[in-house]
Amino acid sequence: MADFDRILQRTGTNCYKWDSLVDRFGEDNGIIPMGVADMDFPCSEEILEALKRKIDDRAFGYDNDPLSGLRELIVERYNARGYDITADDIVIATGVVYAINNVINAFSKPGERIVLPVPYYTPFRSLIEKNGRVVLECPLVIRNDRYEMDLAAIEDQVDEETTMFIFCNPHNPTGRIYDDDELKQVADFCARHHLYIINDEIHADFTLNKPMRTIMNVDEYTRTHTFTFLSATKTFNMAGMKMSFGFIKDAGCREKYHKQAGMTGLESVNVFAPVAMKAAYEASSKWEEELIDYLRRNCQFACDFIHQHLPQITVYPNEGTYLLWLDMRRCAIEPDKLNERLLTEARVQLNDGTHYGRQFAGFQRMNCALPLSQLKEALERIEKLLNQ
Ligand SMILES: Cc1ncc(COP(=O)(O)O)c(C=O)c1O
Repeated sequence: MADFDRILQRTGTNCYKWDSLVDRFGEDNGIIPMGVADMDFPCSEEILEALKRKIDDRAFGYDNDPLSGLRELIVERYNARGYDITADDIVIATGVVYAINNVINAFSKPGERIVLPVPYYTPFRSLIEKNGRVVLECPLVIRNDRYEMDLAAIEDQVDEETTMFIFCNPHNPTGRIYDDDELKQVADFCARHHLYIINDEIHADFTLNKPMRTIMNVDEYTRTHTFTFLSATKTFNMAGMKMSFGFIKDAGCREKYHKQAGMTGLESVNVFAPVAMKAAYEASSKWEEELIDYLRRNCQFACDFIHQHLPQITVYPNEGTYLLWLDMRRCAIEPDKLNERLLTEARVQLNDGTHYGRQFAGFQRMNCALPLSQLKEALERIEKLLNQ
């Protein structure tokens, strides 16, 4: 049984989440970081053992085939979840963000517009803008007590120059897992306007409170126009390994993707990453099950605590991911001071809502992937600050 309650000492390991706080506030800052989306849990023993065995190779030159032994595992794992893929559909990349960059460059031109639901994972906006493309924001609005996409709001703004849609499911930062009818609405919208769909499913394994279906299988249009990206790195807490993979069903699209990737070395990955990934998919399913269970309980604990002790915060229970999206606009702290006061007074680090869209001042994103004792402590500190 994995011990997710154990506090893992990450300070001093050159870990961004913890050591960037040491850089800023010194060694004994005591701050609990709940921002950066990685987990304060060690990897499974199976992954650690496989990496140790790899060290015995004593030399770490280029891999012959990074997907060796992995294609079958990916196909088996995702077909069991309804993806309907073959080994030929798989592409690999150094990371999901790089892979999305590749699709933007291969399938759109500078000046074209890309639909981006808001709030969004911050790099999506930078990828669009730094590549000289233009963001067309699609608002997520509260309906039925949850965030839903308001496609009607942008229907008239989509024009010939609009060529892509960045879809993220489960959604970071709101934690939504979209229902079948919502997938269908996005699919119809994209088909109506001839948009390619960049489908970021990096959080797909974190299905805490409902099953997850992929948009790529909604219909023939989505099967031939969707670029789906996933990774083992989020699920098994090894984001620094830098390896992701994707499914592109249409052979022509895949060829164009590879051609673009060939210009950048995108498809060459760290030699340790496939080893860790193989141990994850082949031998860590028990660890994974226990992890999801632990995260489910943590997120539920945080939601219950907020309902009971912090009614001024509106929390949208997450269906997927380990992230909670908090509307703190009713707290008696000015929105632009909120994140800094949580950090310096409550000594809890959250991510400010404005990272996910300018209009989200007063919102915060909270990462619940940490031992329960630390989560409790963090919530109590927030309560003390807000209810003093
Ligand atoms: C939605 C989403 N996509 C992509 C990434 C990063 O993926 P990678 O490290 O593979 O580039 C993250 C990390 O938090 C994420 O939340």
